[in-house]
Amino acid sequence: MSDDHDHHDGNDEHELRVSKIRDGTVIDHVRGGQALNVLAILGIDGSDGEEVSVGMNVPSDRLARKDIVKVEGRELSQDEVDVLSLIAPDATINIVRDFDVVEKHRVERPDVVEGVLSCPNAGCITTSGEPVTSRFAVLEDGVRCAYCGTIVREEIASLIDT
Ligand code: CTP
Ligand code: ZN
Repeated sequence: MSDDHDHHDGNDEHELRVSKIRDGTVIDHVRGGQALNVLAILGIDGSDGEEVSVGMNVPSDRLARKDIVKVEGRELSQDEVDVLSLIAPDATINIVRDFDVVEKHRVERPDVVEGVLSCPNAGCITTSGEPVTSRFAVLEDGVRCAYCGTIVREEIASLIDT
């Protein structure tokens, strides 16, 4: 480490890129390029009038480039955090109340996600109209359908059931 205090986290006073929020959730240290998928997972497209700020590919100490998503007036459910962990494994979830960060936790990858992703295999029992809840095992580098074994490594966000 040098003693150069002009570090590059993008959050110091010189270069705050996205305003602070009053109450809500800051999803920080999202992999560069994944912010829109984070919004998709949260079901946010702006049509409900949610107050949302997004920073994309901002410099970061921990990651080469990070995305950041700030949602005013909303705290996330565990299910939402579980799915976020699949596309943003290094993310930090910060709960903000009255401008202060009152809780901060790293996302944890669950072993299994149920009912949130849909299998891309048209022949899979989960996509054939049977009343079967989807179930995927979470692997190091992707997810595997518990019913047909299909493995998805890229574009996991595109499997999200909406
Ligand atoms: N933040 C915000 N609005 C607030 C408070 C914090 O948008 N009212 C944002 C900050 O800009 C930062 C994130 O929430 O991106 C986490 O805030 P904080 O814990 O204060 O920052 P750091 O200590 O840098 O976080 P970390 O150690 O997780 O990198
Ligand atoms: Zn399947």
